[in-house]
Amino acid sequence: MNLEAIRAKKARFAIGLMSGTSCDGVNAVLVRIKGTGPGLAIKLIAHQTFPYGADLQNRLLMEHMSAKDVCLLNFELGELLAEASLAMLDQADDHEVEVDFVSAHGHTVGHYPPGSGGDRIGTLQIGEAAVIAQQTKLPVVSDFRVRDMAAGGQGAPLVPYADWLLFRREDRNIICLNIGGIANFTVVTPQFEDILAFDTGPGNIAIDATVRLLSRGTRAFDENGDAARRGTVIEEFLEYLLSDNYFQKEPPKSTGRERFGLEVYLRDALANRKNHSYEDLVATVTEATVQSIADAYKNYVAPNYEATQMIVGGGGAMNTTVMDGLQEKLPEVKIFISDRVGISYDAREAIAFAILGNETIFGTPANVPQATGASESVVLGKITPP
Ligand SMILES: Nc1ncnc2c1ncn2[C@@H]1O[C@H](COP(=O)(O)OP(=O)(O)O)[C@@H](O)[C@H]1O
Ligand SMILES: [Mg+2]
Repeated sequence: MNLEAIRAKKARFAIGLMSGTSCDGVNAVLVRIKGTGPGLAIKLIAHQTFPYGADLQNRLLMEHMSAKDVCLLNFELGELLAEASLAMLDQADDHEVEVDFVSAHGHTVGHYPPGSGGDRIGTLQIGEAAVIAQQTKLPVVSDFRVRDMAAGGQGAPLVPYADWLLFRREDRNIICLNIGGIANFTVVTPQFEDILAFDTGPGNIAIDATVRLLSRGTRAFDENGDAARRGTVIEEFLEYLLSDNYFQKEPPKSTGRERFGLEVYLRDALANRKNHSYEDLVATVTEATVQSIADAYKNYVAPNYEATQMIVGGGGAMNTTVMDGLQEKLPEVKIFISDRVGISYDAREAIAFAILGNETIFGTPANVPQATGASESVVLGKITPP
């Protein structure tokens, strides 16, 4: 594997692949990257989403996976990531560029960072890199979270490094909010050392789980937030949802399906409130999501950072009830979708992992220690030869 030759290029072309906690599919990007570290420059050439079939989605959402399930899913997802890569290679052909590497986050099957309960830790992302390498004949960078955790960090959030490269301004702070399955903030400060980033709690995960359960699987999400808009918030249920003590924890903190998935956070709570309408229940879960994000901003961001703009990415940017709710609760900041600054809401995290893969190849540390809680800067990721 001639990494030296890849590093020596003036510009590298990369495929970035992201598959988040929502289990909705793979977001893929084709990018051009120049440089490494603070001087890195990136250009988005193409992006595409590859949705999962309902069957795969259900298996990914399975509450209890056996070792066999994990083994089989690892290869099945590897095949899917390889297919997405091949489709992006076709797009690269159309643009007459040659791709140098693939960078894939993989699908998180479990994430137990320090402080998540118990004294043992672990995280596992699957979607076998060897399968992608075998089919694309390209080097594949994967497995980004483990090294940060080995250094005592949360292994998340990892996107802040890329947010800083993409959005930083010399004279002011920019707030980045990603509303994926989990929602997270990055406060992009002029100085790297000042970045603040953390997971606020549920993004789409609780809304999706409620919709899926109450519609008996006929719907996977509340399109545009329409049901939530029609419903009335149930105050007592809202209070219950917001009583989770994750919301009171000081950053750095990260979370996932282990804490805000259907079984742990919602199944019993919804079963106890069967007499309420679908719209009212979805409205309440949506309001809890909005309020938890707004409270996180008020409690942990606003006291320490001045800002006037919030750039939103992730599928939740499409939920207008969420977006309107946030703007109403945070009138002091102007909230808008990342497309307005040239980065499609569904491409941002895939771009971030293309950047992180580039840094792995260069051996440039890419965790943000004050965001993950790691004891030091470390080089993230593992490289599978072509
Ligand atoms: N038009 C829409 N209206 C409401 N919600 C949407 C819409 N499009 C996408 N979403 C939400 O975004 C989620 C996917 O967001 P994504 O950023 O891919 O999250 P993740 O990174 O966790 O996979 C979907 O599960 C859904 O909840
Ligand atoms: Mg997704």
